[in-house]
Amino acid sequence: MGDSRAAWAAIEAQTTGTLEDLFAATPDRLSHFVVEEAGIRFDWAKTHLTPALVEAFVALAEARDFASARDALFAGKPVNVTEDRAAEHCAERGEGAPASVARAKGFHSRMRGLIDAIEAGALGPINHILHVGIGGSALGPDLLIDALGRDAGRYETAIVSNVDGAALEEALRRFDPSATLLAVASKTFTTTETLMNADSVLTWMTEAGVEDPYGRVVALTAAPDKAVAWGVDETRVLPFAESVGGRYSLWSSIGFPAALALGWTAFEELLEGAAAMDRHFRFAEPRRNAPMLAAFADQYYARVRGCQTRAVFAYDERLRLLPSYLQQLEMESNGKRATVSGDPVDGPTAPVTWGGVGTDAQHAVFQLLHQGTHLIPVEFVAAVEPGHLLDEGHHRALLVNCFAQGAALMQGKQSDDLARAYPGDRPSSTLLLEQVDPRTLGALIAFYEQRTFTNAVLMDINPFDQFGVELGKAIAKSIDSEGTDHFDPSTRALIERALG
Ligand code: F6P
Repeated sequence: MGDSRAAWAAIEAQTTGTLEDLFAATPDRLSHFVVEEAGIRFDWAKTHLTPALVEAFVALAEARDFASARDALFAGKPVNVTEDRAAEHCAERGEGAPASVARAKGFHSRMRGLIDAIEAGALGPINHILHVGIGGSALGPDLLIDALGRDAGRYETAIVSNVDGAALEEALRRFDPSATLLAVASKTFTTTETLMNADSVLTWMTEAGVEDPYGRVVALTAAPDKAVAWGVDETRVLPFAESVGGRYSLWSSIGFPAALALGWTAFEELLEGAAAMDRHFRFAEPRRNAPMLAAFADQYYARVRGCQTRAVFAYDERLRLLPSYLQQLEMESNGKRATVSGDPVDGPTAPVTWGGVGTDAQHAVFQLLHQGTHLIPVEFVAAVEPGHLLDEGHHRALLVNCFAQGAALMQGKQSDDLARAYPGDRPSSTLLLEQVDPRTLGALIAFYEQRTFTNAVLMDINPFDQFGVELGKAIAKSIDSEGTDHFDPSTRALIERALG
């Protein structure tokens, strides 16, 4: 282990030049900054990374003892130090401590058994899957089904997260109560929003004359006892390990609606794609390691260039939920202010992740990216194979626009008229998937997980806790239990005005 302050000083001392200069100075730039892995082409050539800067980040990784941290992650050691537990999402896809991999396999076969039984009609006719869960218990399944289930045609699904009844009502309006399976997804099985939505679904079934509503409930949880106490029959509780974090849980039984809607083979391919990315992350050397290179660029922009946000645009309708998924993954993991040892961090941590879908976003927010005063690293995610059968001109137009935006951000355009000038030299990375299939999507999501982990190690923070979400929950509860006297005048007046 070396001195991370000296490593940071060496990074800050690097000069990089403009993106166009970098291309001119290094004709083989692509050989340094393009990595092809697991069906994805990762291109960081249009960032300010240089081979020397990468070396400086490799030195920082060594100073942070990155290799040991990564080994500890895969060995199932308690890397989540504040909660003294492991972070074993990789074991769900077969990469981890042998005992944890075996346990995950056991849970997966239980899930598969229940899926087979459902398909054989054990719960009666099921046409609709209504999944209630929030945060990590919703965003992953939602992304998977939206990306991969568009033409699956097996079941009509709805993932409902918000406690706002308008969200649930929309699904209830579409679904037939006598042909609906309710999946209640909650790692803790204590989340207010999820349990309130689940109760309302049961009421809806009861009012529609469904004889045994609880008989149509499946629980996806790391707290099986709580699910049973809530009323789910033990045979329909699909557990997963406490050591799998909520925002890393789509590989576990939280992925149940996706496995049911897309089929077990697709779910297995998803896990295999993620495992392939895990192996790349573990064994590829840092200079060719996709999650590590991505994290080096992230750190450079956040810490050296002071970028407070990063933007992700999916140039593929199937991946439209990716930016929201990444918001939780990156911001809940790395939006921290304490180091692993509990000291204040010595610089900014996770930038704000935001984004949208191309080409729509071009006509809405790209003005600021091209000519605004913020420097925002942009990530484009696209696929070579289209997700539709319409004229190929659609896909061509989509990709042409995607690539043109990256080029335009970099090139800029000179003009004597400032309002028409583009400064250029604005960085972007491009992730080009061969196709949007379960294997490639699994690899893509695992890439983002490992990039998030690498960022955390480089910043010396714990990406696996989320104490910052607790205070708001506690204050919300106190409104019912303690009244409003302890609030400020603004909050009190709002409560009184809206809730009486
Ligand atoms: O409030 C944040 C959070 O704990 C997330 O980390 C988690 O994904 C979500 O709530 C849902 O929690 P649970 O799965 O326990 O219902």
